[in-house]
Amino acid sequence: MKKFRRIGVLTSGGDAPGMNAAVRAVVRTSLTNGIEVYGIMEGYKGLIDNNLKLLAKPGDVSNIINVSGTILYTERCDEFATPEGMAKALKTCEENQIDGVIAIGGDGTFRGATDLASHGIPTIGVPGTIDNDIAATDTTIGFDSAMTIDMEMIDSLRATSESHARCAVIEVMGRHAGDIALNVAISIGAFAVAVPEISFDEDKLIADMIEARKNGKRSFIIVVSEGLPGYGEKLTKTINEKAGITTRFINPAHIQRGRIPSFADRILATEMGEYAVSQLLEGNSDIVICKVDDKLCTVDIHKALMVDKMLKGKLTDEQIANIPAEDKAWMVERCNTINAKKKALYELTYKVR
Ligand code: F6P
Repeated sequence: MKKFRRIGVLTSGGDAPGMNAAVRAVVRTSLTNGIEVYGIMEGYKGLIDNNLKLLAKPGDVSNIINVSGTILYTERCDEFATPEGMAKALKTCEENQIDGVIAIGGDGTFRGATDLASHGIPTIGVPGTIDNDIAATDTTIGFDSAMTIDMEMIDSLRATSESHARCAVIEVMGRHAGDIALNVAISIGAFAVAVPEISFDEDKLIADMIEARKNGKRSFIIVVSEGLPGYGEKLTKTINEKAGITTRFINPAHIQRGRIPSFADRILATEMGEYAVSQLLEGNSDIVICKVDDKLCTVDIHKALMVDKMLKGKLTDEQIANIPAEDKAWMVERCNTINAKKKALYELTYKVR
């Protein structure tokens, strides 16, 4: 077991419900193992600015498991990617004797973590983002809470849509990933769902709506992912004009990040926070904590970033050719599994409509 005196924990990128539960688990597990913890404030910016908060006792993270946002605050910090920013961050680690960092966030956070690790600071990534766009793991901290608040909000829309015989087009977050939209659509019984990963037949939708209206259907709810920028508004106009059904566009935007952490997120965050510390103690670093097929596991952070790119189609043929065979097989399988899951969710919305 490796000896650590002090580690840092940070949250970076968009805040996600459950981040505090992960911070709590990291701090409490560390203290149990005789390790001091510094909360690094405002993500990597806190390392640059030497803005740290000593979390010396269990009470320092009391009463946060049920709180959304992040008590450590968060930032998307461009300076950290510069040599000057990294030099300042390393100085902070040295001055404060921080010999390991646990970074909670999304892919941008993991890129920062690899930079830190390449400069000799053992670093572990914990996936915290509502978008669920980390391909190495089945699920990320915050995803369930974001879907839950979307479901709750859309449930509230249904009454007005039915009373007025209207359609509601609701845009949900997820950045470039349709995971939130696909799952929420099923949970609220959407008439249709549009995501960037799967082509959408707008003419068929209009024809289906006209037909359904003729058969007496009063209200319609359509979920559109923000990964199709501007499409929700455009579709609203098209339905008004072509289907002759009064349609309203709704964008709950950042409200989706503010729900109290759901049950599932509190469990996931606690498991992942504890596991991250135990991995660090075992001498492992430069990894992401993942949950696959309901089991905690770790994935090399570079591999995790690569599989994200592969899923988004952002790897060149040359880059793919240079990936070692075993890693490539794993990455292809991951991408196939994720794509198949998304296709199945998409089809389910229509099968039960
Ligand atoms: O990554 C989380 C997320 O909420 C995305 O779903 C969204 O696209 C983005 O962050 C919004 O970013 P910001 O908070 O900077 O507006």
